Amino acid sequence: MIRNISPRLVLCTAIAGLLAACSGEAPADGAGDAGGKPAEIAERQKNFKTIADSFKAIRGELEKDAPDFAVISAQAGEINTLAQKIETLFPAGTGMGDGHDTEALPAIWEKPEEFKAAGQKLIDESASLMTLASGGDKAAVGAQAMAMGGACKGCHDNFRLDKK
Ligand code: HEC
Repeated sequence: MIRNISPRLVLCTAIAGLLAACSGEAPADGAGDAGGKPAEIAERQKNFKTIADSFKAIRGELEKDAPDFAVISAQAGEINTLAQKIETLFPAGTGMGDGHDTEALPAIWEKPEEFKAAGQKLIDESASLMTLASGGDKAAVGAQAMAMGGACKGCHDNFRLDKK
């Protein structure tokens, strides 16, 4: 007989894996950036850190038997707000190829439409999560949290230096 694996366990494990794929160490502050770090680089890295903190808070709720869906909705809203800033924080001349201490790949400026679409995906997925969370269906919310994690990974795979 096939053993019945808890769908909740599978879901949480998958989310944990996604989160791990999405997080990453920040480069040492200012190291190797002789020309001085443009403000946008520090600002966007802080923006992503805050996004990651919110995602972590969402995952934390989903690990509970009775998640606080108001917290999930609020954190998804926070991600939505921060995601709208992403596009403005990558002015020309602030990539890796410009000698700065950043993980921003040249592809960001070579394929601006694709980068914009990747940012839009996070905006859309976080908005869906925000709406879904108020419905209180844990399985649906968990699935949407994973879809949102896919938006992180989708952009990182193409536009962020993979340090592995
Ligand atoms: C549209 C593209 C894009 C999306 C979407 C995106 N990221 Fe990123 N992320 C980047 C890029 C590019 C960097 C490198 C920024 C730099 O070093 O200047 C980065 C850096 C980071 C960092 C390191 C920040 C630091 O301290 O230097 C974390 C953590 C992170 N992202 C988490 C996330 C999470 C979590 C999500 C989804 C909820 C996400 N990102 C969605 C492009 C994206």
